[in-house]
Amino acid sequence: MKKLIFLIISLFLLPVGSFAVTGEDIFKSKGCSGCHSKSFDSFAPSLSTISKSYYKRKDDLKAYLRGKKPGIIKGEPKAMRGFINITKKLSDEELEALVNYLLSH
Ligand code: HEC
Repeated sequence: MKKLIFLIISLFLLPVGSFAVTGEDIFKSKGCSGCHSKSFDSFAPSLSTISKSYYKRKDDLKAYLRGKKPGIIKGEPKAMRGFINITKKLSDEELEALVNYLLSH
């Protein structure tokens, strides 16, 4: 009986769990974490550098990820081109979550 109750409860919880996508999930699943580390600047700026550069400029960061504005950090912009094509297509909710994650470092 306990098992059955557990099963029924899990069935209700599962869909909710899989729809609540966090910014961190997006960052990892889209491959961003392959180049951007949390605090170490390599050829790609770290999340803490991105956070500092876009401090109080959340809309600029969104515009950048939508492909509407050039980046503000000096680097190799070509490396990001393919990834802007990915972030461009995120829903508004997903982009919001991703940007909040990027700015939380
Ligand atoms: C192949 C390596 C690579 C991957 C993967 C990658 N980036 Fe980048 N990213 C870079 C490099 C290099 C720069 C610096 C060039 C620049 O700023 O134009 C950069 C810059 C950025 C910047 C700062 C732009 C600026 O100049 O203002 C943001 C924000 C960013 N990336 C977000 C992301 C997100 C989100 C993803 C995943 C969808 C991602 N990156 C995936 C290499 C990468």
